[in-house]
Amino acid sequence: MMEDYRRKWQEFYQCHCGYAWWGWSSDRQRLSLTELKDQILTLLFAGHETLTSAIASTCLLLAQHPQILAAAQAEQQQLGINTPLTSDNLQQMTYLEEVLKEVLRFVPPVGGGFRQVIQTCEFNGYRIPQGWSVFYQVGKTHQDQSIYNYPKKFDPDRFNSQRAEDKTKPFGYIPFGGGMRECLGKEFAKLEMKIFVALLLRHYQWELLPQQNLDMIATPTPHPTDGLKVNFRRLETSS
Ligand code: HEM
Repeated sequence: MMEDYRRKWQEFYQCHCGYAWWGWSSDRQRLSLTELKDQILTLLFAGHETLTSAIASTCLLLAQHPQILAAAQAEQQQLGINTPLTSDNLQQMTYLEEVLKEVLRFVPPVGGGFRQVIQTCEFNGYRIPQGWSVFYQVGKTHQDQSIYNYPKKFDPDRFNSQRAEDKTKPFGYIPFGGGMRECLGKEFAKLEMKIFVALLLRHYQWELLPQQNLDMIATPTPHPTDGLKVNFRRLETSS
């Protein structure tokens, strides 16, 4: 398993350092065309589809919850940042962090993942034989009432330090999966989301256009059936 993990890291690193574009790995062994396609497809899905889904869901949910949008905007104003964002600034955005965490709980971009059973075990009275593939479900976990109060409610406060509902049970909050094969881009994705949404909150007001179908479909990642139609207006106070 450790070997597998190392191999993935190496492949991921090679892709990002440009080796893959030339078809060479760092130890100068050629990647096959199939491996190359596999890596590019993984990164397109894992690194792009997921994030665009998460950002679209953020715009949608904030537009649908004006009080939460106002509180997130108020936090940005209170911070009074007039210079380009620094990592210190980002760390001060604690409410925005709770909002983004709740977006990923409420509409997880990835539905679940497979794990191979390496040893026969029992779970909830069911015997699961070695060699089987099991599928863990992110959405079902995030809707579990033994972990989250009123799970169908969009409520960023559930993640504040007093309530910390995600700490109720191990693996109770898994938008990025868990264990050895947890998302490799997790911290990068959280950073991208935070910067993107902080800039939106600081410089734009937005509302959903009327008469659009907001029923969600999940393939390849969750998004409204006909896309999301939003009217963005630049704030006059924004420079
Ligand atoms: C909000 C954005 C994202 C979400 C919700 C997300 C979620 C996930 C999930 C659930 C997995 C499966 C983990 C498991 O089975 O335990 C995964 C794997 C992965 N993700 Fe992400 N991801 C996101 C963004 C990214 C970004 C931006 C990158 C790269 C730049 C990335 C790269 C990967 C890779 C390479 C894997 C495969 C890891 C492995 O198989 O060992 N992800 N992601």
